[in-house]
Amino acid sequence: MEPTDVITNPERLFIEGQEQLPNWTPRQIEGPAKVLILPDIHLPYHHNLSLGTAVGFGRQNDVDHVLINGDLFDFYHLSRFQRDPRMRRPKAELELGRKFFEYLRNAFSTARILFKFGNHDERWHNYILDKAPVLSDIPELEFENLLGLDKLNIEVVKDKRPVRLGSLNVVHGHEYTFNISNPVNPARGLYNRAYAYALCGHFHQKSEHSENNIEGKSITTWSTGCLCGLRPAWLPFNKWCHGFAFVEVYSSGKFSVSNHKISDGKIY
Ligand SMILES: [Fe+2]
Repeated sequence: MEPTDVITNPERLFIEGQEQLPNWTPRQIEGPAKVLILPDIHLPYHHNLSLGTAVGFGRQNDVDHVLINGDLFDFYHLSRFQRDPRMRRPKAELELGRKFFEYLRNAFSTARILFKFGNHDERWHNYILDKAPVLSDIPELEFENLLGLDKLNIEVVKDKRPVRLGSLNVVHGHEYTFNISNPVNPARGLYNRAYAYALCGHFHQKSEHSENNIEGKSITTWSTGCLCGLRPAWLPFNKWCHGFAFVEVYSSGKFSVSNHKISDGKIY
């Protein structure tokens, strides 16, 4: 289709004071790459056996990338919901986070490690915005800087930016303004928003959905299980399962996804 109204000399408009929106371009990972995706760990409510199983799988398969796909921390006390004072405080969570990152860096000494924020990780900054907004632009108060992640060479991906593994779009799942879950499964909900190869965490459920478009091209979406306890006090009955994903990215941009469930330390 040709444009019907070509403006060859558009008006140049300069109005001082333009604000830049946050950078939303996806963080692109080119192949060849072997990527271990660790979803929804929710420190300090992590599930040690499942987390260790997923990390062990990554080491056995010599992954060169590790992607923490959101909700590494729980930050229970920074929630906007009702809080129980007996639950663990952010100070203890940060200490645990420090240990976790050191462990992960030792386990994958040469891998590229990325930490994409989920909605729970965003609670830290949102709490500062709510309670002390004038402090919100002090970088030293961001928890990734308190933890010294740059010294461990761990990359942070925030502002709801996707990570693209070749042509696979990886999101946490909270990036859409309304819930993408539906009565069928989260992968179907993700398909109905993304219309492209995509994988998400956030729902703590393992699912997969494929549809052919009118040209016969098959598009698949995935949602992963989680690596936290399965019966939190706020939602003891749910459809959650333990799991993680392994993605092989080829130099062509194509990829293969192994979306694993974990049960009692066994990988399915
Ligand atoms: Fe989560």
